Amino acid sequence: MNKIVTNANNGLQGSIEIPPDKSVSHRAVMFASIAKGKSVIKNFSKGQDPLSSLNVCRTLGIEAHFKNDLLIINSNAKLSAPSLPLDCGNSGTTMRLMSGILAGQSFDSTLTGDESLSKRPMRRVIEPLTLMGAEIKSNDYKAPLTILGKSLHAIDYISKLASAQVKSCVLLAGLNAEGKTSFTEPYLSRNHTEIMLKYMGANISTDKNKVTIQKSELEPRTIEICGDISSAAYFITAGLVVPNSKIILKNVGLNPTRTGIIEVVQKMGGNIKILDKKTVSGEVVGDIQISYSDLKACTIEGEIIPRLIDELPVIAVLATQACGTTIIKDAQDLRNKESDRIKAVVTELKKIGADIQETPDGFIITGKTNLKGGAELETYHDHRLAMSLYVAGLICEKAVSINGFEWVDISFPEFEKLFSKIGCPEV
Ligand code: S3P
Repeated sequence: MNKIVTNANNGLQGSIEIPPDKSVSHRAVMFASIAKGKSVIKNFSKGQDPLSSLNVCRTLGIEAHFKNDLLIINSNAKLSAPSLPLDCGNSGTTMRLMSGILAGQSFDSTLTGDESLSKRPMRRVIEPLTLMGAEIKSNDYKAPLTILGKSLHAIDYISKLASAQVKSCVLLAGLNAEGKTSFTEPYLSRNHTEIMLKYMGANISTDKNKVTIQKSELEPRTIEICGDISSAAYFITAGLVVPNSKIILKNVGLNPTRTGIIEVVQKMGGNIKILDKKTVSGEVVGDIQISYSDLKACTIEGEIIPRLIDELPVIAVLATQACGTTIIKDAQDLRNKESDRIKAVVTELKKIGADIQETPDGFIITGKTNLKGGAELETYHDHRLAMSLYVAGLICEKAVSINGFEWVDISFPEFEKLFSKIGCPEV
């Protein structure tokens, strides 16, 4: 699908509810599937990625149905041998977390993915699982992954990567392994797995960047899913860069391992306020108010990177509107996402007139630039590219045309509807 985006000169105004968090939705359906009894998930994401996790759990014999806004899961805590390959679609989270759950089962299974997922690195999960006694066949450390169910034993794993997917994979394997498994990472990545496993009664503890888990049974729970800060990021950026804008984003997850973008906006001098903080199902939630701002450049590096990794494409758009040179480094893993996001962002933003350079581990962006637009842009089958380019289109002089806009549905099917609600021209 091709999408034309024109500039939003009149400004964006109003208040919108941010749809459910993708990361938390994946975990809720997976963990409810291995807890004994009935779990109720409120506000499960309708994005294609979390639906891939739901389908995988169903293929493993779990009974799950929707009742109005609730997803109800009934499980006897046992998964059944699948009669089909487990299709993870475009979702790296589904494949990497499910590998941890499946490695210690008493049956064999195969995880498959679409073209993009089949190119993504899986050595990062195969290696620690193999150390735990797992046996996994792969296509040169890429999908499809055939997991031969084995008895697992605990390990103390020191990871070079700060990756929530790898951490979660090891912890989920540890849930089913003899002994105490620990995972240490260089910087703290998102900790939704730790929070939800604890909320469901697992024997898990954390000490700075180290988390330790012991074999445990999970208890079913009611889990309410907060709004996704990674989805809110497109509205935060649009509110800051489109003149005459003032918007409120309601019910946004504010877990400190995800709020790097808020810290960057504060460092850039943006008008951003957090209102009404509370805790829901163990996660911090609140409302965010943003308005059009004069921004200054900053450097983004080190421990903050895992706390804003998915927001970097739209932060690159934000940086084109900040005075001075913004440097983003230590983000080499951006090249291993749904697309090579460093190359893709630089190629596409250059087409509309941005002053942006590619570095091995990030970007150098100089602003403030009047983006010219008037170009045909590509999404590389990547939802975050599609949404970031849409936001850039809102401040271009001439309309842009975005090819493959349907990829937005991977995480955020409500994206355009919500933008039109705050005054974006519908073309
Ligand atoms: C995710 C972790 C991150 C993130 C991805 C979702 C998760 O990946 O980029 O979109 O839900 O655990 P990495 O763990 O590979 O950094």
